[in-house]
Amino acid sequence: MSEPDRPRIVQGGMGAGVSGWRLARAVSRTGQLGVVSGVALDALLARGLQDGDEGGHLRRALAHLPLPGVGERILERYFVPGGIEPGERYRPVPKLGLRPNKTRDELTIAGNFAEVWLAKQGHDGLVGINYLEKIQLATPSAAYGAMLAGVDYVLMGAGIPSEIPALLNALADGSPGRLTVTVAGAEEGRPFAFDPASLAEPAIKAKRPRFLAIVSSSVLAMYLNQSPVTRPDGFVLETAVAGGHSAPPRGKLHLDDDGEPVYGKRDRIDPAKVAALGLPFWVAGGFARPGTLAEARSAGAAGIQAGSVFALCRESGLDPGLRQQLVKRALDGTLRVRNDPRASPTGFPFKVAALPDTLSEPDVYVKRPRLCDLSYLRTPYLKANGTVGYRCPAEPIDAYVRKGGDIEDTTGRRCLCNALVSNIGYGQHRPDGYVEPPMLTLGQDLGFLPDLVRTRGGDYSAADAVDYLLGT
Ligand SMILES: Cc1cc2nc3c(=O)[nH]c(=O)nc-3n(C[C@H](O)[C@H](O)[C@H](O)COP(=O)(O)O)c2cc1C
Repeated sequence: MSEPDRPRIVQGGMGAGVSGWRLARAVSRTGQLGVVSGVALDALLARGLQDGDEGGHLRRALAHLPLPGVGERILERYFVPGGIEPGERYRPVPKLGLRPNKTRDELTIAGNFAEVWLAKQGHDGLVGINYLEKIQLATPSAAYGAMLAGVDYVLMGAGIPSEIPALLNALADGSPGRLTVTVAGAEEGRPFAFDPASLAEPAIKAKRPRFLAIVSSSVLAMYLNQSPVTRPDGFVLETAVAGGHSAPPRGKLHLDDDGEPVYGKRDRIDPAKVAALGLPFWVAGGFARPGTLAEARSAGAAGIQAGSVFALCRESGLDPGLRQQLVKRALDGTLRVRNDPRASPTGFPFKVAALPDTLSEPDVYVKRPRLCDLSYLRTPYLKANGTVGYRCPAEPIDAYVRKGGDIEDTTGRRCLCNALVSNIGYGQHRPDGYVEPPMLTLGQDLGFLPDLVRTRGGDYSAADAVDYLLGT
């Protein structure tokens, strides 16, 4: 990778929609790497269109999708001129599953295409897209949609992304992109593929983006580096204070007095070992301070990845009211960000920022009737009859247990799917009037905020954040 193509700052991919196209575009314009979140972009496209697509951005993007008829079918199904009535329910989108579903593939491709296409408008900088390894069933078609829009980097965390380099090679060539999907209770995973030729003949080829694996140990980096088949083009080394999910501590799980996982010496990442692999890497999680970039570079890193500092900036996709509350509480010292080992259905610890009226609060949590309708985080499991079913520990408890899930797994689980889309203003309204509450995540190191707000104001921009990190 040549130096000019290697940004010093990677803006963290923040789901769902926190790092949307507006934020990524603002960062890319500064010459750094803007990254959109690739999570749930099918639902975000569908809900954006149902909200009336103010400004016409989504429709403009769809008009450029190089797959005949797809944009028209999506508009027909989801676009509501002027938007749905306040309190009206959003239409469902097809759920992920092993069975092929063309409508679902089209919506996923279009959602990913639109987000990247919009992030790329008005500059010639680099744009990346960030996926979660755990959402395996979305990845092949999602990545293809992003690639049709010319995405420059794909980043993936929260798992072991060993099949992604080969997947990107295949999709770039217009060939079927294949993954082995983990099935709980089965000895082997199930093959899963998306074939670009199912949407256009001949299949459209695309530029092969660079792939950065987000890892939290040098051991995993070394493992992925071993073979050309699994080797990424670089790494993001993420510490446990980073926003969103983190890897659990190595070894037996110990919790501190606040119920947070205790990380020890074995969890410390050794940048020297990663540097020795010869691939570029960026360090993430608590690096959003002037001076840390230079330190990271002198330790061999290409730069830093920062998330929280961008999640709280003006172009962030977070609902502005929620963002302002986070900033205000962080500044007056009352914001608590807990590394909750139970909140996420994935079983990975997840940072939860405590705010009233959100699912961080026990009273809001117990009042939420469990329901699984977005289902991105549900996982395939082997049924007694040999077929595959899907379950999520945040779904209704009786359903989860009926599907062979352990009742213990359900304790404290939050429906991240609904909460995260609610964070960006797309909360679902249920027929009985219940509105899905938000639940915020942030990194645990917000020490950048007082300085940044003092010099740039509480409504600072992504470009202000980049200047701050560059120390300019
Ligand atoms: C609001 C928020 C949402 C995030 N969502 C994701 C995500 O969906 N996938 C992911 O790989 N990382 C996610 N992250 C982690 C960031 O990409 C980045 O690595 C991290 O924020 C860096 O640490 P910092 O917040 O201390 O700068 C998220 C971070 C934040 C603050």
